[in-house]
Order: sequence, then C-alpha cells, then structure tokens
Amino acid sequence: MKTAVFSTRRYDQTLLQQANREIGHELVFVQDRLTVDTVALAAGCKAVCVFVNDAVDAEVLTRLAAQGTLLVATRSTGFNHIDAEAARRLGIEVVRVTDYSPYSVAEFAVGLLLAVNRKIVRASVRTRDGNFELDGLMGVDLHGKTVGVIGTGKIGTIFARIMAGFGCTVLGHDAYPKAEFEDLGGRYLPLPALMAQSDVISLHCPLTEQTRHIVDAGSLAQLKRGAILVNTSRGGLVDTEAATQALKTGQLGGLAIDVYEQEASLFFQDLSSTVIHDDVIQRLVSFPNVIVTGHQAFFTVEAIGQIMATTLESLSAFERGEPLVNRIPQD
Ligand code: NAI
Repeated sequence: MKTAVFSTRRYDQTLLQQANREIGHELVFVQDRLTVDTVALAAGCKAVCVFVNDAVDAEVLTRLAAQGTLLVATRSTGFNHIDAEAARRLGIEVVRVTDYSPYSVAEFAVGLLLAVNRKIVRASVRTRDGNFELDGLMGVDLHGKTVGVIGTGKIGTIFARIMAGFGCTVLGHDAYPKAEFEDLGGRYLPLPALMAQSDVISLHCPLTEQTRHIVDAGSLAQLKRGAILVNTSRGGLVDTEAATQALKTGQLGGLAIDVYEQEASLFFQDLSSTVIHDDVIQRLVSFPNVIVTGHQAFFTVEAIGQIMATTLESLSAFERGEPLVNRIPQD
C-alpha cells in the first residue's frame, strides 16, 4: 500500500526498508514533519505514517481525507498529536503501537534520575576538561527514598519495580489503579498527597485534557522541598515556566526531561549551528541541576524493531480489510 512516512530520519528509513523487504508496501519517505504545509506530499497515499511531533490536526486530516488517505499509523504509543475526533468524523482510521518495549522508556527514566541526582553528566564534562574535583557533585542515596509514579501503566509499573529494587518506597497516582502496581508494594494516593510525600516524581501518564500541566505551580508548591522531577512521557504534562520558577527558588531540586512542551520545533534535528530562539529551553539547559534529552527514551534496538514491525503489520491488516488490533481507543 502506498504510504507517506513523515518525520523520517535515517534510522527510520533503513529499518523500515529492511522490515518491509518481504512485505512490499510502497513507502514514500519524507523528512519533514506532517503539517498543513507538507500534507500535499501525501497525495495519492492511502496511508500516512507519522511520529510524535507531526501535527495531525483537523485541518491536516481534512486535507488528507480529500487526497484519499484512509489510514494514519503513528510510530508511537501516545496519540495526543492526532485529533482523534476529527479522524473519526472524516472516516480515517488511526492506529498506533501499544506494545513495544516499555523497558526502553522505564530504564531511560531511571538513567535520567541517576544522572541528575548524582550529577553524572556534569562530572563527565569536568573530567574531560581535566577537572577531577568533587565540589558540587554530591547527590543523595535513592535507597530509602520515596518515589511517586504518576501513571502506573506499562512503563510506570516497570519504572516502579526498578525503583522498588533500589529500596525505595513507591507511591502511585492513576485514574485507573492497577493490581500489578500494588502487587509490587506500590501504594496509591491522591495527587496532592503523592506530591507532598515523594522525594522523586516520575511522569508516565498520557497527555490528555485531564493531564495537561498536571505538574504546575500549584502541584509544585505541594512538593517536598528539593524533590526531583523526571518526565519521559509528554512535555505538555509540565508547565515549564512554573518548573523553571521552582528550580530558581530551590523548591524543585532537580529536573530531568526527555520531552518538552515546545519540542516540535527543536527535537530530532541538529540545530547546533543555529541560534535557538526558544529562551525557555535555553534557560533550562543552563541550570546545573537540569538534564534535557531530545525524546530518545524509546530509542533502543528492541523498541524500534517492534515499532517498525507493528506499523507494517497495521498497514497490511488495513490493506487486507482485517480488524485493526492497534486502533487507538474509541471514546
Ligand atoms: P499505558 O497506557 O500502559 O499507561 C498509562 C497510564 O496512565 C495508565 O495506567 C492510565 O490509567 C494512566 N492515566 C491515564 N489518565 C490518567 C490521569 N488523568 N491521571 C493519572 N494517570 C492516568 O501507557 P505506557 O505504555 O505506559 O506509556 C505511557 C506514556 O509514556 C505514553 O502515553 C507516552 O506519552 C509516553 N511515552 C514516551 C516515550 C518516549 O520516548 N519518551 C515512548 C513511549 C511512551
């Protein structure tokens, strides 16, 4: 099936081509993000394949429908970048990748936590410069600390299990509590109590209207002073301006983010030779207790392999008129 693959990077192209060799879909690779300005590149394609920063809003979907596109397949779990209601209205099916290595993201969240707590990135930069001093590099033991997990689904539960293995007390907050989380010793609390009791908060819920800015000035004020916040889920979960203020006052002791609310114009590109106009991110990366990575938590051999395989399976199922097992949830 002819499919326009947007936001393609070299690894996407190589791996999709390899996985598609036996299957034979006609893949048209587009480096640009899908927006109103690039949607014409999908003309004649029954399907489009997108990623997290493609803007699959009502206007883009309307144009896609007019061009004959019937299926949107996102190479991600989250689908907050797609207007699901507009797609339904226009008769466009939307599929995602629900089951790919949740370990990739959970392990990365643990890595970010260790790096920001123990100042591993700063230390490495220092030693490269011949500076072997320890001043400013002190962290805390995670053993015995309390970790609050917001969103205890596949990734959040694995993250919680790893932290329990470190000897942490694990608290959770979820709209739909899970027995598996409680089985590993996790205890559910309302959000204000979880914020007040945790030394570390890690975000693992989807971005929805209910969760947008779930971490804002109000919830940051409820934190234990000096707590660490880790966000590997979606940038829009955190009010970045409020987090910046909390870092300045010391209310927030550390911030490690793999996602950022305004990431669409920055991430997945090399901007090292240009002037970055986003003052918020520039300010954040200047703080010694902040780590920012460019949405790479999913980026492991296992996860990418599964993402590509599932995406191609969804295209094939659609082409054959079979049920779409990876269709996004319908309200
Ligand atoms: P999941 O669907 O298994 O878990 C999400 C959990 O959030 C569920 O338990 C759900 O009940 C809970 N939830 C929903 N609404 C909530 C609310 N209002 N308050 C509290 N909890 C709520 O999803 P999974 O696979 O664990 O992924 C979680 C998120 O991680 C995705 O939505 C995505 O945004 C993010 N992600 C980030 C990646 C990265 O590379 N940085 C890669 C993959 C996913």
